[in-house]
Amino acid sequence: MMSPPLIKLVRALPVRLGTGVAGRCRALRADACELSLPNPVAAGESLVLIIEAPRRDPLRFSATPGQAVAREEDQIRQRFTLVPVDDATGRGLLELLTQLRKDAHLELCLEEDVETTIGPGFERVVLPHCSLPDLDGDAVSTATEFLDKPLNLPLVITGMTGGTDRAGEFNLALAAVAQRTGVAMGLGSQRSMLEDPALARTFQVRDVAPDVPLLANLGAVQLNYGVTPEACARAVETVDADALCLHLNVMQEMIQPEGNRNFIKIAQLIRKVVDEVAVPVLLKETGTGMSSDVARLAMDVGCLGVDVAGVGGTSWPRVEALRHDDDRQGIGEAFRDWGITTVDAVRGCRGAAPVAQLIASGGVRSGLDMARCIALGADMCGIALPLLRAVARSEDAAVDYIEQRREELRVALMCSGARDLRALRDRGPASVDGVDHD
Ligand code: FNR
Repeated sequence: MMSPPLIKLVRALPVRLGTGVAGRCRALRADACELSLPNPVAAGESLVLIIEAPRRDPLRFSATPGQAVAREEDQIRQRFTLVPVDDATGRGLLELLTQLRKDAHLELCLEEDVETTIGPGFERVVLPHCSLPDLDGDAVSTATEFLDKPLNLPLVITGMTGGTDRAGEFNLALAAVAQRTGVAMGLGSQRSMLEDPALARTFQVRDVAPDVPLLANLGAVQLNYGVTPEACARAVETVDADALCLHLNVMQEMIQPEGNRNFIKIAQLIRKVVDEVAVPVLLKETGTGMSSDVARLAMDVGCLGVDVAGVGGTSWPRVEALRHDDDRQGIGEAFRDWGITTVDAVRGCRGAAPVAQLIASGGVRSGLDMARCIALGADMCGIALPLLRAVARSEDAAVDYIEQRREELRVALMCSGARDLRALRDRGPASVDGVDHD
């Protein structure tokens, strides 16, 4: 096992040393940190170190300075080993690390190039063109139903966040956008609120989105790490969700130094969750593409369907690479494009699970992409990253983004001669990979 590296902080935290020196914490783990200081502290000297994190009491440690790591302009980077002054500080530090990780994910997804270098494969899918549709373009319908609720278009804002104040603000804004546009909305992983019920408020969006299908979210691997079927039911009830997504993120868990890697017998536990929760359960990938055998397995254990989340959009290996500046960076970069493209995942999963509710996502970026997914057999489409970026600008920007996609979808339907989504799905694509579909 590699020793866990320090986690690079996207925003450095203010630090005070007992000597009166002020510095900034640039990287952190449970027992060590790296500081930027005006001058190095003599190695071997033990001193008090206080980390000031926003919205929490300062965390006090007994710290031992190590060697200076590097000199940068007028600052010295130096490592310190940390011993919390008491158990509460130790727990506070672990919570802080989780929050920093979540906020870092958001920050990196907002600011950096975090997508795969290969696309989802939509250029391989050609829709039929009809030169004279016997249709009124203004009457072509993009409407559908999902989880027994009507939608204006077959779109879910797939789960991204929750668990910090900032994440809670994003969830509220995204929920308001879903309500205004008539699309479904997914929450990010709710594990943090199972550990700390005070964080439930950062996932509770029902008040601003009373009519939309709302998807709760937990990592399937957590079923091997203390999350019980009863806890899954609680996660659903606390947010008044219409379904539960259990996400699969094996690649991310393998790359994250703090990842949970034991996936043994998860399928059996998913079956127990299906039995326990009062709403349908979906299995959801997170950007490496649902394999067809797992789609079949999802149906075998009683799930309603799958979100394929294929390669071609947000890359979690890439996000993890950006979070580290050591060996982990290389691992993340090496796997940036790993997995099954969205087009292949949709085709494979539809073939393996003909009656599954199938959400196509991963690099879906236009209404034309959405139409291609529907023609390939998807019931719904999912978009994450572009909507996070749009809503970071404003709710109106995110509403405009969705309305634009709806208009593109309408054009694709009309020009394919399809009056609605069902007609397009029944017709299918004209060709895939140059091979005629019929
Ligand atoms: C995600 N995604 C995700 N998925 C999940 O099931 N639980 C989660 O907590 C998260 N968290 C998360 C955070 C952020 C900032 C992003 C951008 C994404 C994955 C997401 O739902 C989706 O499957 C992928 O991002 C692929 O879609 P896009 O981004 O290519 O449209």
